[in-house]
Amino acid sequence: MAGMAGPTNRTETERKKSMIRSFESTLEAPDATALWKEQPFQNRNRFQSTNDELENGTQMREDISPYPKPRREIVGNSPALNEVLRLAAVVAPTDSTVLILGETGTGKELVARSVHELNSRRNKPLVKLNCAALPANLLESELFGYERGAFTGATTRKAGRFELADQGTLFLDEVGDIPLELQPKLLRALQEQEFERLGSTVTTRVNVRIVAATSRDLPQMVQDRQFRSDLYYRLNVFPIRVPALRERLQDIPLLVQHFVAQFARAMKKRIDSVPVEFVNALTAHSWPGNVRELQNFIERAVILSQDRVLHNPI
Ligand SMILES: Nc1ncnc2c1ncn2[C@@H]1O[C@H](COP(=O)(O)OP(=O)(O)OP(=O)(O)O)[C@@H](O)[C@H]1O
Ligand SMILES: [Mg+2]
Repeated sequence: MAGMAGPTNRTETERKKSMIRSFESTLEAPDATALWKEQPFQNRNRFQSTNDELENGTQMREDISPYPKPRREIVGNSPALNEVLRLAAVVAPTDSTVLILGETGTGKELVARSVHELNSRRNKPLVKLNCAALPANLLESELFGYERGAFTGATTRKAGRFELADQGTLFLDEVGDIPLELQPKLLRALQEQEFERLGSTVTTRVNVRIVAATSRDLPQMVQDRQFRSDLYYRLNVFPIRVPALRERLQDIPLLVQHFVAQFARAMKKRIDSVPVEFVNALTAHSWPGNVRELQNFIERAVILSQDRVLHNPI
């Protein structure tokens, strides 16, 4: 019997080694690099004048982040953001639970997507559920699904998000808002990877990687008994804190460049430069709504710009 353990273990070790090798080659593949090197600069020519102009005043620099970036662009090159990207890249290939923390609009969902895309599950579903959007009973049926006749209105059987995410990733957004009464059931599903659909006695087993995000202060909620400590510890395996934009003001020029290009393209406008005073004004703001607020502000500026120069709309 002991002799049988050897080959099995060796096979398992080999499998793991080859997974690591294939992840490394993903990182080294020219197209993986291209994903994050080319996209921010597809409008390089348009912005060349902006770059030259900004070189003296603010730091408009190339996005030379050494970390792999996913298809959906995470723009910025501050040490604080690079640390987020480093942690995301390190944890992504494992199947460990990731908890993404940060204020509203900081880019938590982008980080969650990158964790999925840098895992071998990337071609399997990434299923998102916003735990703040639904009352407890609906949230429960969304998570675990139900059988026909489980409750009034359940006319057909429906799979829950756990089942839909099988072999892939389940992104539990706003996880701090999950009602207390549902927390034990969620804990069991996370821990055992099994649950019963509402109205069923049959246990369903899944293989789901969990990524959760919240802007809430979970340790404080645990102290206030609004969040179960066991669930908190289960989620807090690998926390990644996405810093507020005011903690990484040096990302602003690159973000402005990115959003101007994005909105100009969408609105079929041509904008060649952003005056340095405008960028300076943007870096002086505290951005309580973080990147989302900046994005919306740039959208407004692009709408209002009459010529090829981006003007401050206020
Ligand atoms: N570094 C970034 N580069 C490019 N776009 C970004 C970046 N960070 C955030 N965004 C954009 O800002 C918006 C908000 O990001 P996201 O939805 O990921 O934030 P969030 O932290 O999940 O916010 P909330 O807590 O409100 O759900 C999105 O449109 C996203 O594409
Ligand atoms: Mg979000």
